[in-house]
Amino acid sequence: MDDLVLLHAFPLDARMWDVPGAITPDLRGHGEPDLDVLALQVVEELDARGLDSVLLGGCSMGGYVAMAVLRRAPERVKGLVFADTKHTADAPEAAENRHAMAERVEREGVGWIPDAMLPNLLGPNASDEAKNLVRTMILAQRPEDVAWWQRAMAARLDSTDVLEKAYVPSLVLVGDQDKITPPDVAAKLAVTLRHSTSERVEGAGHLMPVEQPEEFRARLERWRTQVGI
Ligand code: MLT
Repeated sequence: MDDLVLLHAFPLDARMWDVPGAITPDLRGHGEPDLDVLALQVVEELDARGLDSVLLGGCSMGGYVAMAVLRRAPERVKGLVFADTKHTADAPEAAENRHAMAERVEREGVGWIPDAMLPNLLGPNASDEAKNLVRTMILAQRPEDVAWWQRAMAARLDSTDVLEKAYVPSLVLVGDQDKITPPDVAAKLAVTLRHSTSERVEGAGHLMPVEQPEEFRARLERWRTQVGI
């Protein structure tokens, strides 16, 4: 597993992953909000560890960052794992909502976010443990990071072109209760990729790897064995 890198969702951190042995950076923005800054952070982490190419995965925002890595340094990616994410850019209204949230976080801090976001982040079957973990992670984030991530996501590019050029095996997972990037969105991502395996995880919401970590690990392992990666 020393060649598996998993990138976290918004507005969380590396604690969302329960995958022993995986490299799970905490993504940190700086300067002009642009997901390419986080992609560079990931590439520098690979450099520091002496890793030429890795199996790169991400949940939601982490998936957007994985796509930004693929744009910047496709030779560093030998396979892709996408959980509850999408490849398209924001519609203008969605981008406006992100800017509004960024401003509110800067004014009020992160205390209001769990109640506002948890109902959409987690599916109806999420355990108390999953709810508590997500709440704890959100409340631990710095308002400036949350605002930066939102502005960077609002500015992100459509990734259709980079995914169409990716000749590596890809796994696309989605919780069938995901309200933010539902199964039809994941299906569009899967058909954009050349060599993809697409699976729905029953009973899981948007943060499927947090809600069903055993299922996430099992599907990842099974796919790795199938495609030999
Ligand atoms: C996430 O879970 O990372 C976010 O829902 C991504 C987004 O806001 O598009």
